Amino acid sequence: MEIGFLGLGIMGKAMSMNLIKKGFKVTVWNRTLSRCDELVEMGASVGETPAAVVKKCKITIAMVSDPAAALSVVFDKDGVLEEISSGKGYVDMSTVDPETSSKISEAITSKGGSFVEAPVSGSKQPAEAALLVILAAGDKALYEEAIPAFNAMGKKSFYLGPIGNGARMKLVVNMIMGSMMNAFSEGIVLADRSGLNPSDLLDVLDLGAIATPMFKGKGPNMIKSNFSPAFPLKHQQKDMRLALALGDENAVSMPIAAAANEAFKKARSMGLGDLDFSAVHEVVKQHKD
Ligand SMILES: NC(=O)c1ccc[n+]([C@@H]2O[C@H](COP(=O)([O-])OP(=O)(O)OC[C@H]3O[C@@H](n4cnc5c(N)ncnc54)[C@H](OP(=O)(O)O)[C@@H]3O)[C@@H](O)[C@H]2O)c1
Repeated sequence: MEIGFLGLGIMGKAMSMNLIKKGFKVTVWNRTLSRCDELVEMGASVGETPAAVVKKCKITIAMVSDPAAALSVVFDKDGVLEEISSGKGYVDMSTVDPETSSKISEAITSKGGSFVEAPVSGSKQPAEAALLVILAAGDKALYEEAIPAFNAMGKKSFYLGPIGNGARMKLVVNMIMGSMMNAFSEGIVLADRSGLNPSDLLDVLDLGAIATPMFKGKGPNMIKSNFSPAFPLKHQQKDMRLALALGDENAVSMPIAAAANEAFKKARSMGLGDLDFSAVHEVVKQHKD
């Protein structure tokens, strides 16, 4: 099957590579076109615009940074909307809010196309290893048609019902993750400043009920202040912001998520937005009496 892929950042690059490895014919586009080169070496074709990709492919997938980017690739000049039509499907795997997803869905379906939102749980390594968890919602027939592609990129896909539910699930998951990352950062600094070895803390955590792959995977690098980006902090802050808006809409009090969001905002103001989201650790470390 000919699949289009828009957005070759940390996630999109790994996901489109897996599609090629599993035998799909892939046509890629990225705003910064030079990022397509590595994919071309693996056998991908390049579309000059999102519209050109959609024209060529039955299903086009997008994986871009945020709501503004997701809207831009659809609605701007040479965007998806110019070529989407009956018989073509569009699958947006970016993390956005339910309203953005609904706007895209309405536009695509009004031109006869079908739409699925399918944000993912899992970071750079799971994307590379095709172990993502796919949180899909929207057009059921397109979801079923896209399952072979989802299987090439992930270990499990969920169909969660109407448009918005994939986005909501993703925001809830990342809200929990961002709050946990802040508590973890505070714990590492507290262990260190109170005279404990932070590496011992990691060993203790790993053997108990709150052991998580995130603590195990990120902890040693955090202790070494290595924040090479797997999940850029600016995107985690975007997700906290969107999750807090979802909380407001649903009258859910979320003081812990709100505090975590402030810490991520502070980290962005310190110029850490392009580093891994674990760099929020630097915000805790910076405070001294
Ligand atoms: N990294 C993770 O661990 C992870 C995990 C789960 C979900 N996500 C979500 O997946 C999405 C992509 O994340 P990522 O980590 O791959 O981000 P990234 O490395 O920052 O890549 C962002 C991509 O979006 C493109 N982009 C940004 N603004 C654009 C615009 N206005 N028009 C067109 N393209 C635009 C970028 O193009 P350029 O190359 O031209 O800048 C790039 O291809 C985000 O929604 C993120 O929240 C990430």
